[in-house]
Amino acid sequence: MKRAVIIMLVAMLSLTASAWAQYSDPLLGPHNVAEKGCRACHAPHNGAVMNGGTDKSTGIVYLWGRDFKAATYTTFGGGSFTTVANPVETDPVVHTQMCLSCHDGGISDATMSSDAKLPNDGYSLENDHPVHVVYPLATTTRPYNWNITIASGRASFVDTTWVGGHPARLFVDQAGTSAYVECSTCHNPHSYNRAVLKIAGVSTVKTSSNFVRGWYDPADGKSKADYCRSCHYSKTDVYDGTIK
Ligand code: HEC
Ligand code: HEC
Ligand code: HEC
Ligand code: HEC
Repeated sequence: MKRAVIIMLVAMLSLTASAWAQYSDPLLGPHNVAEKGCRACHAPHNGAVMNGGTDKSTGIVYLWGRDFKAATYTTFGGGSFTTVANPVETDPVVHTQMCLSCHDGGISDATMSSDAKLPNDGYSLENDHPVHVVYPLATTTRPYNWNITIASGRASFVDTTWVGGHPARLFVDQAGTSAYVECSTCHNPHSYNRAVLKIAGVSTVKTSSNFVRGWYDPADGKSKADYCRSCHYSKTDVYDGTIK
């Protein structure tokens, strides 16, 4: 029995390995920008200056190796948020701002396709899934999303057993009262097409794509729908209108 599982795993791994072959570092995939490895984003010293930028102090945020921009972005549904050139690591918005330091077209066109530029129309993220938006805390009247609790600066989903899991990484603000959806809530910039899914305490490695932080197998539509349902409880087949 054990043996069969191992043989299956090996077969699955070698299949995925061939799909990854186009990248010199399969796990970083297209994020191994210009073969710089981790340094494409992080600088071990001197912040953005190490990568040819201007600001050494970007390094105080996750050793970030690219310049940050001060800007105001409009978001889906008519909202907006503002970024500053010298953010602090504890501000949830940095988990969107770090991505935008490339995905606003901030690296050469040769490296990034126009689809990978968000926003690709100035400072508008209006046609993108809401970002820097608060994940609603449960109320008795609006149980549309899976319930979360916030404790000691961390947000966690109350439900732990639903078949799609709850792989999102929510970012809690400095006050410790609100959890935000940012780019890296849904994406793990370190893992191009693998994700760990934890259901009922058991962790499994699943196929992903597009750096999606969760089970998002291009060949499995159910996994992709379940990914969205991992927050949008009202769209699941277990939705009964009570807080879960
Ligand atoms: C495409 C950009 C990018 C690349 C390349 C990258 N990282 Fe990161 N890294 C991030 C971002 C963004 C964060 C902040 C956490 C988040 O938002 O996911 C981060 C956070 C981290 C952290 C803090 C722990 C955490 O996850 O919050 C460590 C450690 C880290 N990275 C190590 C690495 C290593 C090692 C590599 C190379 C194997 C690497 N990173 C490559 C973008 C990148
Ligand atoms: C150092 C620059 C850089 C940073 C920072 C960066 N990316 Fe990327 N990203 C790229 C490049 C280059 C590509 C490949 C673009 C292309 O295919 O045209 C890419 C591709 C992607 C893709 C598409 C992958 C695919 O299958 O086509 C996603 C999703 C993505 N990035 C998300 C993120 C998120 C989320 C963050 C922040 C956590 C981030 N990136 C930070 C440079 C970056
Ligand atoms: C609610 C979850 C969610 C959030 C938040 C989110 N993304 Fe995505 N993103 C996805 C999913 C899912 C896909 C894969 C879509 C597909 O191809 O099936 C994707 C695809 C992408 C792609 C590839 C686009 C393409 O046309 O191929 C890029 C680049 C990207 N995201 C960057 C970002 C950046 C940058 C942010 C923050 C501004 C962000 N994402 C926020 C879920 C999200
Ligand atoms: C991290 C949790 C999370 C994930 C994963 C997620 N969403 Fe959302 N989504 C939200 C939040 C929070 C909002 C803001 C509206 C709200 O308060 O519910 C939202 C808003 C939306 C809206 C706008 C709703 C409105 O009332 O205007 C749509 C549509 C949507 N999401 C679709 C998707 C799709 C499709 C996916 C999968 C690709 C997805 N979401 C994945 C959390 C998530």
